[in-house]
Amino acid sequence: MGAVTEALVRRWLDQAQHVVALTGAGVSAESGVPTFRDAQTGLWARFSPEELATESAFRAHPQRVWDWYVARREALSGVRPNEGHLALARYARRHPGKLTLVTQNVDGLHQRAGQPFTLALHGDIQSERWLDEPRGCCAGGPPMPGRPPRCAVCGNLRRPAVVWFGETLPADILSAAQEASAACDLMLVVGTSGAVYPAAGLVHTARRAGGRVVIVNPQATELDDIADGLLRGGSAQILGRLLDGDPATGRENC
Ligand code: APR
Repeated sequence: MGAVTEALVRRWLDQAQHVVALTGAGVSAESGVPTFRDAQTGLWARFSPEELATESAFRAHPQRVWDWYVARREALSGVRPNEGHLALARYARRHPGKLTLVTQNVDGLHQRAGQPFTLALHGDIQSERWLDEPRGCCAGGPPMPGRPPRCAVCGNLRRPAVVWFGETLPADILSAAQEASAACDLMLVVGTSGAVYPAAGLVHTARRAGGRVVIVNPQATELDDIADGLLRGGSAQILGRLLDGDPATGRENC
């Protein structure tokens, strides 16, 4: 199926008992956060994310990778959640237990928007963990400052607590996302190219289980051919209109 009207998707949303929203970098684009497929800029223009966001890249060039994450964290400090994040959070609060928010984003913007519960498949850029875990000597001792910080005893490095290319996703979060996808009546796939698995596989799971799939994206994605409907446009505007006009509250789309 191709383009659908927002009114039809609103009806599907109102009829649904369980909704999953699967989001990607496009949801944060309107907050000014570059997407993964946007060209890298400045110091990082000569690297692709695939050359930086891997364990082997970190082991080979720890300071380079560490500095890339520090630069991304610093860029996020001036960024705020946009209307798309806020509309999803408001909807989840108005309909407790109906919406499961699954994100590939590590920017923490859904959480900062007040989303009651977020399944963050790829981790959190603001968090860190030890590179070589578990290692007893590091338990409890503060790391020695550095780029990256390291254990003063054994040299174990601190690393961003994000899922790098080739790494497995946190099993508990992935299985919760799979369960929600298999049980949903409607999945909104927002701001993702659908290029990366197992996240993109959740859309197939929802489809196979009989859930409707609606893609919100200004561009075509690798998942378009399994969608029941495509809403072409920016997520901030579309989600604001889609999620805020509840018939229950009588508030129509403005
Ligand atoms: N509203 C909605 N979608 C948008 C907007 C917008 N305003 N602007 C851009 N997009 C869409 C693009 O058309 C693209 O389809 O967002 C998508 C971003 O795609 P990617 O850059 O591939 O990001 P994402 O799909 O989240 O990547 C998935 O891949 O790089 C890894 O782990 C990383 O989590 C990431 C995963």
